[in-house]
Amino acid sequence: MPANQAHSASGHGPAVPLSASRSAPLTGRLKPPGDKSISHRALILGLLSLGETAIEGLLEGDDVLRTAQACRQLGAKVDRLGPGRWRVLGAGLGSLIQPQDTLDFGNAGTGTRLMMGVVGGHGMTATFDGDASLRKRPMRRILDPLSLMGVQIVSQAEGGRCPVVLMGTSEPAPIEYRSPVASAQLKSAILLAGLNSPGKTIVIEQEASRDHTEKMLAYFGAEVKTELEGAHGRRITLTGRPTLKPRPVIVPADPSSAAFPIVAALLVPGSDVVVEGVMMNPLRIGLLTTLLEMGAQIDIRDERIEGGEDVADLHVKASQLVGVDVPADRAPAMIDEYPILAVAAAFATGPTRMRGLSELRVKESDRLVAVSDGLTATGVAHHIEGDDLIVEGHAGTVRGGGLVATHLDHRIAMSFLIMGLASQKPVTIDDESMIATSFPTFKPSMERLGAAFGAP
Ligand code: S3P
Repeated sequence: MPANQAHSASGHGPAVPLSASRSAPLTGRLKPPGDKSISHRALILGLLSLGETAIEGLLEGDDVLRTAQACRQLGAKVDRLGPGRWRVLGAGLGSLIQPQDTLDFGNAGTGTRLMMGVVGGHGMTATFDGDASLRKRPMRRILDPLSLMGVQIVSQAEGGRCPVVLMGTSEPAPIEYRSPVASAQLKSAILLAGLNSPGKTIVIEQEASRDHTEKMLAYFGAEVKTELEGAHGRRITLTGRPTLKPRPVIVPADPSSAAFPIVAALLVPGSDVVVEGVMMNPLRIGLLTTLLEMGAQIDIRDERIEGGEDVADLHVKASQLVGVDVPADRAPAMIDEYPILAVAAAFATGPTRMRGLSELRVKESDRLVAVSDGLTATGVAHHIEGDDLIVEGHAGTVRGGGLVATHLDHRIAMSFLIMGLASQKPVTIDDESMIATSFPTFKPSMERLGAAFGAP
């Protein structure tokens, strides 16, 4: 598939199984691909600004390519100029065009939900759909606040799921919305719809979620105010109808993708790896905090600011980890990292308790069940208590073996492949194809460090 085209249909090809085997020490340097959250937002703000937005380091994963395609359907000209170098000629806020076909987001929840906000704030009708995983994900959390703003839900599948047809409004009502979940996708959908509102749109979160939308909106010229709310929350106020001006965006490396080589280097004995240019936004580095608490040897080097975000190089050495208790209030800052943390915990000494994981149930798969099944298949003692996952540490010796079902979930696929690099027996996953949604270079990048992957 050319890098600037998304698949035309949301089906996937045949499943491609892959095995990972115990590897010699991993060594060398790796730069993970661009951050997925920022890549989606850069394209969307490019669409909403009038003129040319230049993007460097865009993640060219399938999820983001779907958003690029949706931006084209809504009136932007989106071109790939070279590896990671993209240009968006935006239609401008208020001037999007009615899409002719379904907006097909494949596996991408972020693209779907953010674009529901964009369409909701424009007087147009659009159909949102995707693959079997996306069709299971709850959209009501987005549809409820959009309805309050005046968006009409023309149709939806049972339980507020895709396919969803929305009729947006060019006069979205300004609302003050107290978010029932710490979700950046929900917050972002409301703010993006509120862009075209004649008043102020306010989102209140009890637990702060990633703040890339607010930061990028301000960078493109919108008036956005963030205030602290309670112990861990935020109150975000956006003034509607800004003039969004195109700005160059440099996308830092994705900490959620960096998590895989970092944990691999910690687990494979004798490893010594530098993971370069990792975004260190405080609302994204819960895994790093947790790994350091577990005794990981990770040296944070050359801290700097790139493209408006803190970044650093992480020098990681193989370490014997110890189990810890991960507090529930850390979940928003490491929500996508629990599958790989569960793998790290399996190799630790002593149990690790991960608290408050209810949101894992509504990711690309039910990640609590998918992780638990994967741990069972690979011989790792663990149990679930309410919304907590408790993994017994096997002190460096994990059996492995078994076949892990990935349920169209890229992070389940990568997590259990990393386990196989350090376990006694090879670990096989049923399908590696979804890895392309977020980390298309995962396999060759890890192989360059010394990872042993092969056909089962
Ligand atoms: C994302 C937010 C998170 C995260 C997802 C990306 C975003 O989802 O899991 O991978 O870019 O806003 P929620 O906002 O639903 O927690």
